[in-house]
Amino acid sequence: MNQINIKSFPRNFLWGASTSAYQVEGAWNEDGKGLSVIDVAKYPEGTSDFKVASDHYHRYKEDIALFAEMGLKAYRFSIAWTRIYPNGTGEINQKGIDFYNNLINELLSYNIEPIVTMYHFDLPYALQQKGGWSNRETIDAFENYARTLFKYFGDRVKYWLTINEQNMMILHGSAIGTLDPNMKNPQKELYQQNHHMFLAQAKAINLCHEMCPNARIGPAPNIAYVYPASSKPEDILAAQNFSSIRNWLYLDMPVFGRYNSVAWSYMEEEGCTPTIQEGDMEILESAKPDFIAFNYYSTVTVAENSSNDSAENSIGDQQITIGEPGFYRGVANPHLEKTQFGWEIDPVGFRITLRELNDRYHLPLLVTENGLGAYDKLEEGDVINDDYRIEFLRKHIEQARLAISDGVNLIGYCPWSAIDLVSTHQGFSKRYGFIYVNRDEFDLKDLRRIKKKSFYWYKNVIATNGEKL
Ligand code: BG6
Repeated sequence: MNQINIKSFPRNFLWGASTSAYQVEGAWNEDGKGLSVIDVAKYPEGTSDFKVASDHYHRYKEDIALFAEMGLKAYRFSIAWTRIYPNGTGEINQKGIDFYNNLINELLSYNIEPIVTMYHFDLPYALQQKGGWSNRETIDAFENYARTLFKYFGDRVKYWLTINEQNMMILHGSAIGTLDPNMKNPQKELYQQNHHMFLAQAKAINLCHEMCPNARIGPAPNIAYVYPASSKPEDILAAQNFSSIRNWLYLDMPVFGRYNSVAWSYMEEEGCTPTIQEGDMEILESAKPDFIAFNYYSTVTVAENSSNDSAENSIGDQQITIGEPGFYRGVANPHLEKTQFGWEIDPVGFRITLRELNDRYHLPLLVTENGLGAYDKLEEGDVINDDYRIEFLRKHIEQARLAISDGVNLIGYCPWSAIDLVSTHQGFSKRYGFIYVNRDEFDLKDLRRIKKKSFYWYKNVIATNGEKL
């Protein structure tokens, strides 16, 4: 592959950027919004909560005008379930419908394609109190919520994402803040929850196809190619183990309607296979996604981990893998550099991941997150020289283009994040945006928006359809 014939990005490529409701909106208790699990979760000391975030709820017009100035063709955001149904189900909150109607209309007035995540970590707390995803009633609540979204917004939204990073909620829920602290047997319960989320997703996919025949819908897991630490066969097995547990479990189900066999045997060994009710598998098989959306930050490298090894179970966070005795052990990849927050940087791994997804599933792919969290510095004269972010994104876009040249059907690229927002568990100082929000961890200052150097750079990337990086 010398890449003599490098293809261009497709003409209608969705150059976008992403956010999620609870990380950007603020207004946590305004206009009838109910509490979500995020609003009641405990976060590490020294990090901001999500109450005000970037105040996007009150400033969305100003923000969207900036997105338009940057030239975004698409904006991926999530709808807060608790704005639509404050208690997860029951009465609709009209003010929540109004907010997202206005947001969508504002985007469309600039010809920015809305890409909507239905659920991004913020389960209604009222549902959590009734068992959350462990309770099958949450599947019905999600289906009802999905019906409402399609009914009110389906005339204008053409791209829907079901659940953001279901795999990270199962593997790293304690870091993200989605793990129910009251679970008695967390692993067993988590894989039951996982099964229920699969069902909820399948029902939403079917409903979308029924109610919005012109729309497209897909899952949105976090996918990271898993490298073996060496060519030792046991390391290869460990890589296969982790890849099945982390990646393929979450895509084999929506795409093929079945449990990944290696992941299933892992659940058997761990004693955490879910209870499957009659009719469940039929529902799971019936739903067919139109594309795969996925978030990519890095690859993972693992080594053998015999059952006698005393590694802790896989806590870490979304990109930091610890290990599980008997299955895999996360190790550092000596060939990769790291971000200021310890996440490995692997643009070539992005191409590898894209190829692998293409080979396994043969569906259009949409990148819904990719980016660099860093401590940005606001310099005199309202300047932010985030050259490191430009370099990170440039290298990933180069690899995306090579993947397209390899034959991957990549339809869009939405880096994280459109604008600075609160990180899942590392506060406001870990910034990802093209637009700086003038606040600190606890001092809200004036929250004014300032264009970073990467804003102008990405604007030019979009204007040249990825030719000028
Ligand atoms: C993904 C999430 O896991 O990674 C986002 O979908 C998150 O919500 C992003 O913000 C970056 O992670 P973090 O922990 O740095 O905010």
